[in-house]
Amino acid sequence: MPVAIVTGASRGLGLATARALAEQGWSVAADARHAAQLRDEVARLPAGRVVTVPGDVTDARHRAELVAAARELGTIALLMNNASRLGPSPQPGLADYPEPELAAVYAVNVLAPVALTRLVIADLLSASGTVVNVSSDAAVEAYGGWGGYGSSKAALDQVSAILGVEHPSLRVYALDPGDMRTDMHQHAFPGEDISDRPEPETVVPAVLRLLSDRPPSGRYRAADLLDGSPPDPGTPDPSRAGSGPTDAGPMPAAAAR
Ligand SMILES: NC(=O)c1ccc[n+]([C@@H]2O[C@H](COP(=O)([O-])OP(=O)(O)OC[C@H]3O[C@@H](n4cnc5c(N)ncnc54)[C@H](OP(=O)(O)O)[C@@H]3O)[C@@H](O)[C@H]2O)c1
Repeated sequence: MPVAIVTGASRGLGLATARALAEQGWSVAADARHAAQLRDEVARLPAGRVVTVPGDVTDARHRAELVAAARELGTIALLMNNASRLGPSPQPGLADYPEPELAAVYAVNVLAPVALTRLVIADLLSASGTVVNVSSDAAVEAYGGWGGYGSSKAALDQVSAILGVEHPSLRVYALDPGDMRTDMHQHAFPGEDISDRPEPETVVPAVLRLLSDRPPSGRYRAADLLDGSPPDPGTPDPSRAGSGPTDAGPMPAAAAR
């Protein structure tokens, strides 16, 4: 059975995805910082399918433990970089953004996904596997006050696009899940009633569609994957691998959606 690593799997989209993968027969190595919540939630998932490795994705030792635990389960075929950091709440303007906070946001949202990818790239290549980097519309829309988180997700989008070009045998996706009724969303909108936002479970079929259909590497919006239309990647064709910025020509405008 294939093995998935899902970061940030104690609640929200990560937990919902880990549950769905386990139900589909995947084995899952799941992490989150708070061990008790992670173990309590995972205890409700199909027995034996999900192992928990509590820790912080920014910690190199934890990342190594997570990957080792995944390898014990079998062949790693999916890395889902889902754990994320919003930053201060309410979010400050960029000119007022405390530098240590900005560094912390980038550490979780950009550097840790790259580091985890580096650790498992050989596993993924041997399995013709998949990376799902969970992005946001804040990666492509210039919302005031979202400069820390949004720019980190823009960097994650570009990391995903370049990895997809560098490794054409893999599928590397940046997935914009859309608004979801989660702790992070509440953190982003302190004091607001977010009960009209969809549950994270509604996004899981979009993740599963990426895994089953294996469209080209690129940036996808969950809403587009869920409406049944043909998947449309928002990034350049992997056949451009090796082209430099001066000879690659203009990038398709579809990236900016
Ligand atoms: N919710 C939205 O409206 C929305 C919109 C666009 C994009 N997204 C993206 O969707 C993804 C999932 O977000 P969500 O809304 O489901 O968030 P969530 O409900 O707050 O869950 C976040 C998960 O990540 C874990 N986590 C946070 N920091 C971590 C770290 N440093 N190391 C390991 N685990 C960590 C959390 O557990 P611990 O706290 O115990 O570590 C938790 O399991 C994120 O990438 C987010 O940026 C969300």
